Amino acid sequence: MNDVQTAIAALRESAERPPHLRDLFDADPGRGDRHALSHADLRLDYAKHRVDDEILTRLFALARARGLAERIEAMFSGAPVNETEGRAALHMALRAPEGVRFEVAGQDVVPDVHEVLGRMASFAERVRAGGWLGFTGRPIRNIVNLGIGGSDLGPAMACEALAAYADRGLTVRFVSNVDGTDLAETVRDLDPAETLFIVCSKTFTTQETLTNARSARDWCTRALGSEEAVARHFVAVSTQGDRVAAFGIDPERMFGFWDWVGGRYSLPSAVGLSLMIAIGPTRFREMLAGMRDLDEHFRSAPFEANLPVVMGLLGVWYGSFLGMQTHAVLPYDRYLRRFPAYLQQLDMESNGKRVDRAGEPVALDTAPVLFGEPGTNGQHAFFQLMHQGTRVVPADFIGFCQSLNPMGDHHDLLTANLLAQTEALAFGRTADEVRAAGVPEALVAHRTFPGDRPSSTLLVDRLTPASLGRLIALYEHKVAVQAAVWDINAFDQFGVELGKELAGRIGPELSGAAEPEHDSSTNAMIRHYRARRAPEGDV
Ligand code: F6P
Repeated sequence: MNDVQTAIAALRESAERPPHLRDLFDADPGRGDRHALSHADLRLDYAKHRVDDEILTRLFALARARGLAERIEAMFSGAPVNETEGRAALHMALRAPEGVRFEVAGQDVVPDVHEVLGRMASFAERVRAGGWLGFTGRPIRNIVNLGIGGSDLGPAMACEALAAYADRGLTVRFVSNVDGTDLAETVRDLDPAETLFIVCSKTFTTQETLTNARSARDWCTRALGSEEAVARHFVAVSTQGDRVAAFGIDPERMFGFWDWVGGRYSLPSAVGLSLMIAIGPTRFREMLAGMRDLDEHFRSAPFEANLPVVMGLLGVWYGSFLGMQTHAVLPYDRYLRRFPAYLQQLDMESNGKRVDRAGEPVALDTAPVLFGEPGTNGQHAFFQLMHQGTRVVPADFIGFCQSLNPMGDHHDLLTANLLAQTEALAFGRTADEVRAAGVPEALVAHRTFPGDRPSSTLLVDRLTPASLGRLIALYEHKVAVQAAVWDINAFDQFGVELGKELAGRIGPELSGAAEPEHDSSTNAMIRHYRARRAPEGDV
């Protein structure tokens, strides 16, 4: 057996008799202090996990056997770690200060990064100051980002997360879905004369975004009476200058980025333009500094004290060895309500893979189904299953020690709920405890909580641009750790292609321009839809 096989075999052996959380805590009164890590304003409690020292040692051994340190260095050194597409994954360069070198193919990319950041900052300042005028001479007050996936989820999440730092005189909205209702409802109450669209697409070929961009252009030019309005009301974010120009946006009004930035890692690039306009360049740079801080931690901290490494390996333990198929992320802060949706793409598009880097079936199960909702709302929805269902859902709880909206005892109540949930999940309530509380025998089973349900808790001092930056980079690197352990490429996403291709065929079949040629189920639905579809132009 090689080192990887030995490490996997050892963990499989551990998985046959995983320790119970009650036993782990009974055996070690100092567990809560020993199993916690701090970095800057972040504290990770990972005591409530089904791991003892031996299991942790075995997980670190697996990481070492997989060459995690070398994979991290390869990523930071700009090697083409996205091997199937022959590209680097160097999002860390997007938050590097001037003077720090990050090379792709021998070329330092940091000066280009700062050139674009500088152009973004001038533009953002101008819009914020009311100096960017629309076609009729009125200042822009509304920003609508048109993008999907990584060209939407990051800035949409961060604009929500940092709303407390935003210029409230500006309206910043996001349209992603090709469902016309998304655009219609988003612009319904906006004045075209005061609205700027950011067409955000790395490839500038994405059907949803280009369809929305064309409809937005029609809405704008129809209202303002001239095609020339496009010059004042549309800017682009892309890696593809030619396609941007072909759409009718002057490359002067394009903010570029590079093929070594993956879509789901692109928030700190020009893809964050809407966020920069909302919160201003200074706050945006604070977010970049937070990311950079976590990048350095990830690159330099020993594995045992490395937050992304520890979080990544715990995920591997549950998903690959204990057969758990889901993972919940539960932010106890309304500002982070889009964080789980953002993480879904980051985690599931990156690591939802079934073959390893060599194209062979993976040795271990890969990414879990990730979901989440802010607390306390989730408690009144799906937590029942987490406490008493037949499936165990490992969870990350995220809370803040200070509220940005202090109000009576709200924040202590919120935090009490967070901590109570982690305690209840971990330790439950035994049948004897339920009986001792006087519950009638017929209800004892119903009122028993099995416990032994694991969670991490991230406590952050306060939600700031820098702390958000750290959280984002923490999860980005957790995904990279898991990809290394599973030996998969986290940076391609061929799984989205087949559906796109088939949609391209089905489109004309729905309108009647072509006859359906699929399986009998799909053909029948196409015929059903065609018979009922509104006639062309009917609205
Ligand atoms: O859904 C696939 C995907 O390629 C994502 O990876 C990406 O973030 C999204 O589409 C949007 O792509 P683009 O920015 O090129 O429009």
